[in-house]
Amino acid sequence: MAEIMTIDKVCRGLQGEVAIPGDKSISHRSVMLSGLGSTPVHITNFLHAQDCLSTVACLRALGAEIEFQSDTELTVKGNGFHGLQEPGTVIDAGNSGTTLRLMMGLLSAQPFFSAFTGDASLHRRPMGRVAKPLSLMGARIYGREGNSKLPLAVVPAEGGLKGISYESPVASAQVKSALLLAGMYADGPTTVSEPFVSRDHTERMLAAFGVPVRREGTAVTIDSVMAEAYKAPAAIEVPGDISSAAYWLVAGSVLPGSKLLLKNVGVNETRTGILEVLEQMGAKLELVNERVSGGEAAADICVEAGPLKGTEFGAEIMPRLIDEIPIIAVAALLAEGDTIITGAGELRVKETDRLAAIEQEFNKLSPGAVETIEDGLVIHGGRPIQKARCFTYDDHRIAMSLAILGAAGDGVVLERPDCVNISYPAFYGDLERLRG
Ligand code: S3P
Repeated sequence: MAEIMTIDKVCRGLQGEVAIPGDKSISHRSVMLSGLGSTPVHITNFLHAQDCLSTVACLRALGAEIEFQSDTELTVKGNGFHGLQEPGTVIDAGNSGTTLRLMMGLLSAQPFFSAFTGDASLHRRPMGRVAKPLSLMGARIYGREGNSKLPLAVVPAEGGLKGISYESPVASAQVKSALLLAGMYADGPTTVSEPFVSRDHTERMLAAFGVPVRREGTAVTIDSVMAEAYKAPAAIEVPGDISSAAYWLVAGSVLPGSKLLLKNVGVNETRTGILEVLEQMGAKLELVNERVSGGEAAADICVEAGPLKGTEFGAEIMPRLIDEIPIIAVAALLAEGDTIITGAGELRVKETDRLAAIEQEFNKLSPGAVETIEDGLVIHGGRPIQKARCFTYDDHRIAMSLAILGAAGDGVVLERPDCVNISYPAFYGDLERLRG
């Protein structure tokens, strides 16, 4: 474990190709859904990073056979739709909100006891947003602070779960997915509506397992699933993660002289808010080789450096770029003029309070450049950037964003840089390689 890492200024831009690592959201779902099948599923371009390995450990604890052929290629074989087994130990979701929330949904519907833990960050995050609607379905979930925080335990529902119609106050794919997974085992249909449509990877992958999910506006509905209807596909190919590509989209735009080709980026329209915002800011992006792979849109993206200007966006686009706000804030800081981001209150309950972390740390590099408002940020672009020592808060996306900001400025010393292993273990290596 490195306690500190120095990132030097990039002088001549970044050049070359980046093979974007597998999508984190899709990797989690590929293992979970395959673990409910009865035939082996061969998964390729899996994200070999800590969060997804937490999901692998979890499914193994529930009795699925999982064998890695290489870091990014594995075979998952479940024991059938009703074949999950009572875990003999506490399930550790590590740093992964997706693992915990989706598994709470899935395990609420099982006829056995399960208990969950996670790291310090996950203990602080709100789980009531999932526990509450699951309880309305009949689930029995117990935990700290009114059954809303880890450690949590799930006891079999008396008489099974019943489908509900739930209006989620937050646009959250984790809430939606937890309820869809529970809904497969419930009596009657389950409907979840949300203020804006969140990422739809669960719905798409369920379709590949023979489970249709109906959409109407911002609502999705799943019917109770018969075991015979649940059919695992032989293979799942995971596209690259646009949330990881985001660091290079911004670095390639703001580091003068850069020209990058990002290979195999997932461009599902529920995830491409960052492309819209960067284009509004004047970035030079080009999608090439557009295709569909495993039910998901993918493309290669060329990015070339050029001047950016400030912009404004809010709640409507937020679910489509929720994880990209820290790196969009870097783009804003290096753009001409002000950027105003609203409707981003969800960032306060991510791996850390990301709005506070951005204000605190970015201002060390560019004093006075960032102001937080209750649900967003005001960023004054185009100010001088100095070298500073910054803290990552053990948050992978804060660490990678600070690294790019430092590279664009006069360098940065990162305290606790290793958290990039949560979603992008090769990040620092890729940065070194691309600077030539
Ligand atoms: C995710 C959904 C998003 C996102 C997270 C991954 C998922 O969270 O921030 O990194 O895989 O469903 P919310 O659904 O809570 O917004």
